[in-house]
Amino acid sequence: ARLVVLVSGAGTNLQALLDTIAVQHVVGYGAEIVAVGADRHGTEGLERAKRSGIPTYVCRVEDHASRAEWDAALTAATAAYEPDLVISAGFMKIVGKEFLGRFGGRFINTHPALLPSFPGTHGVRDALEYGVKMTGCTVHFVDEGVDTGPIIAQGVVEVRDEDDETALHERIKEVERRLLVEVVGRLARDGYRIEGRKVLIP
Ligand code: GRF
Repeated sequence: ARLVVLVSGAGTNLQALLDTIAVQHVVGYGAEIVAVGADRHGTEGLERAKRSGIPTYVCRVEDHASRAEWDAALTAATAAYEPDLVISAGFMKIVGKEFLGRFGGRFINTHPALLPSFPGTHGVRDALEYGVKMTGCTVHFVDEGVDTGPIIAQGVVEVRDEDDETALHERIKEVERRLLVEVVGRLARDGYRIEGRKVLIP
């Protein structure tokens, strides 16, 4: 399967995919990253892609007259690589109608909380402030809502008394990277069906 990965930040989830594909291509991970897109220049995620010789593109909201035009440009730039799956790996933008029209049911996000609890930008902080004892990460398909699409897989992380947001997020990200790599490989190799809110992998 052809993957396009979208990033905004550090890109450690992207790196986990890159590393796995590099090691497993002999046995067959089932997917290759054909391009990496970002919503801004100079992110570590883009550098990681370049170091691996993978094409990159940047689509900035500021360069477009409206959010809809940005969404159309992002859709076209992504579609140019003809991906089977698009992965939002720390991509901190909500895509619009055109992007979802084109990639709906093939667009995956990873979120650092156990959805439907704590959606949105501050999932880790919100979980910590609420005082939950267990949190984690969720890999899910993206729909029109914010972190509301059908759930593919989740990983659990215990909250420790001494945790601050950074420490907790780091432990979540360790689980998240493994989960994302596993889930994307399975979807790519085995295929899947979405029935209502259920994601079925044969
Ligand atoms: C991940 O925890 C993701 O769920 C969140 O931001 C983090 C991105 O990490 N939205 P990275 O850029 O892949 O290192």
